[in-house]
This record gives sequence, structure tokens and C-alpha cells, in this order.
Amino acid sequence: MILVTGGAGFIGSNFVLEYAALHPGAAIVNLDKLTYAGNFSNLESLRNYPKHHFVHGDICDATLVDQLLAQYQPEAIVHFAAESHVDRSIHTPGDFLQTNIVGSFTLLQCATRYWNSLDEGRRTNFRFLHVSTDEVFGSLSRDAPAFTETHPYEPNSPYSASKAASDHLARAWHHTYGLPVLTTNCSNNYGPYQFPEKLIPLVITHALEGRPLPIYGDGQQVRDWLYVSDHCDAIRVVLARGHLGETYNIGGNAEMTNLAVVEQICTMLDELRPKADGSSYRSQISFVRDRPGHDRRYAMNIEKAKRSLGWQPRESFESGIRKTILWYLEHAQWLSQVRSGEYLQWLQTHYRP
Ligand code: NAD
Ligand code: TYD
Repeated sequence: MILVTGGAGFIGSNFVLEYAALHPGAAIVNLDKLTYAGNFSNLESLRNYPKHHFVHGDICDATLVDQLLAQYQPEAIVHFAAESHVDRSIHTPGDFLQTNIVGSFTLLQCATRYWNSLDEGRRTNFRFLHVSTDEVFGSLSRDAPAFTETHPYEPNSPYSASKAASDHLARAWHHTYGLPVLTTNCSNNYGPYQFPEKLIPLVITHALEGRPLPIYGDGQQVRDWLYVSDHCDAIRVVLARGHLGETYNIGGNAEMTNLAVVEQICTMLDELRPKADGSSYRSQISFVRDRPGHDRRYAMNIEKAKRSLGWQPRESFESGIRKTILWYLEHAQWLSQVRSGEYLQWLQTHYRP
């Protein structure tokens, strides 16, 4: 029995679907507020899986969280729930502070109360896995070595600052109250079910619709891309073998500039869904105003996870992006369903000329 928060979002739903497939019979309580980023339809294939208990609620609601923990008695909490989009954090930072900081604090408090109520055996086995990001470390210059787990925290956006705060809380709850906390800091994910406001799904959908492919600034910012399934695998490994109180960097060994990512998507779409007029999707690339405070480069050193846990990514960017594009080509209905009025409004406010 595990309690997952944010399990209707991009990474959370991939994790829940894989967990149910890998551990048939395992019970999963899935607490999600269903914000614009949470889509119940991501979990459609679990409709006949009786041990998936979906709860529509907020991690900031301590009464609800206490009640769920008492009722379901989970052996672990895997905490994905967050406001996760940097651009939105620039427009509405308050939502990020509320969910990412107050929500994580609430969850830690409830988890500690619950953990203290367990008998010794169950206390020993309990885990609280906090899912975080490489963005807490700030920005790297072009030739600087990749982030290690001991790199100083230098968050630059309201999103990364709120995640950094939650990482500090998780650390403190382990250190002060002994809660068995594990933290993962992961690089940029991509794959099925990612909401089309993030770079990769946005570019795929805009390309197919003949719309401009917006590249912020000069497109030379570097991200390290990880296929979502590899991230889910890392979380399972950390949950099973991670050392209490430790943090683990997770990444894809796939550093690329944004422009190179977009060009590769265009090349693959040219092959998989050639345009009727024979032109390349690259002709839709459009350089737009840069993101304020845009971090130049993220890169992850994943030696610790490799060495101490035996985890490493399986997918290359080439293989992962092909799977992802094929998934989006085959899920036009999912796309039209998640692109609600709120989404269209976001595009209009954010990408206005
Ligand atoms: P997402 O935005 O796709 O999903 C977030 C989910 O959390 C949604 O289902 C949403 O409804 C839910 N949620 C939001 N506020 C909530 C609240 N107050 N109570 C309950 N549920 C709430 O995010 P994602 O990309 O799947 O990211 C999941 C986690 O992984 C986040 O903590 C994020 O910081 C971290 N992360 C993401 C990436 C990435 O590239 N996407 C990389 C590293 C780490
Ligand atoms: P994003 O997917 O928002 O993830 P994050 O900001 O968490 O890394 O963006 C990835 C990179 O792509 C980032 O450097 C910003 C850039 N980007 C664009 O150039 N154009 C876009 O329309 C978006 C959404 C992002």
C-alpha cells in the first residue's frame, strides 16, 4: 500500500500506471487536487483496477491527509504533487508557495504524526519519498561540472525557490523528527501524458497544427532530458534501496540546447508525419521574447545513484523522443481533452506578440 500525491499529473500518472503493472495487487491511494495539470483521464486504464483509490483533494488539507493515512495505513508516501511550470510561477507565484511549500509542510507534519503512531516494524519500513528537481541548484556556466548532490542551492525562479524550500523542509523533518525521508532531484522529464505547456509536447502539438514553434531567447539554454519511465524506475529504486536522509541526483546524460531539441523533433516529425507541401517543420521555428531570469544550463552528475543504487537511464534521447512523438501522434483525443479553455487562455496571455 502506497500513498501517491499528484498521481494524475504527468510524472505521477506514469508512476502509478507502472506501479500497478509491476506490482499487481498493490494498493495505491492517489491524492490529487486535479488542477489544470492533473487529468483523471491519464488513469483511464486503471478503471478496472480495484486497488487504485483516487481521492480528489488538496495536500494542504491536513484533516484529509490525516484521515487517509489512518484509513489506508500506507507503507510509503511518494510526493509528486506540485505546481510545476516555471513560466506560470512567474505569473502566479502565490500558487507555487502554497502547494509546494505549505502543501509539503502539511504532508510532512501528517506523515510524522502517522509514522509515530506505527508499531516498531512498520516504523522501520516506512518511507517518505520527496520528488524534486535539478532547478534548485540554479544555473551552470557552459563548461562547469554537472551538479552533484552537494552543489549549493541557488534557485532562481519562484518555482525552483519553492521546490528548494520543500527540499529543506524534507531534510529538516528527517534530521529533527527522524522521519525516514528520501529525496530525488531530477532533470527535465518528457514522455506520454505531459501537459502541452512544457517545451516538448508544446512543440509536437504546435508543429502538427502548423503553428509557430516558440523558442525563448537564442535557444542556446541547455537542459538534461530524461524519459519519464526512467525517472519512475529511479524512484522505485530509491524507495527500495535508498539510504535514509540522503538525496539522489537523477538525470538522463542527455544535455542538449533547446534549439537542438526542437530541431530533432522537427526532423523526426518530417519522417513520421511529412507535411503535404514537402517543407520541413523547421520552417515553423520562431524565436520569441526570453523568459525572465531564464537559467542558462542544468546538468546532472548521476554517479551517486549509479554507484550506490545501481540505477542508470535506459533510454537515449533519440529512442525516448521517438516513443514520445509516436505516443502524441496516437493520442490526439487525449490532447484535445486536456486542452481546455484554461489552456487556450494561458497560450494567449503567455505567447501574446
Ligand atoms: P504536473 O504539473 O504534471 O503534475 C502535478 C500534479 O499535482 C497534478 O496532477 C496536480 O493536479 C497535482 N496537484 C497540484 N497541486 C496540488 C495540491 N495542492 N494538492 C494535491 N495535488 C496537487 O507535474 P509533473 O511534471 O508531473 O511533476 C511532478 C513532480 O516532479 C513535481 O514535484 C515536480 O517538481 C517534479 N519534477 C518534475 C520534472 C519535470 O520535468 N516535469 C523534473 C523534475 C522534478
Ligand atoms: P520547460 O519545458 O518549461 O521546462 P523548465 O523550464 O522546467 O526547464 O522548458 C524547457 C526549456 O525550454 C526552458 O529552457 C525554456 C524553454 N522553452 C522555450 O524555449 N519555449 C517554450 O515555449 C517553452 C514552454 C519552453
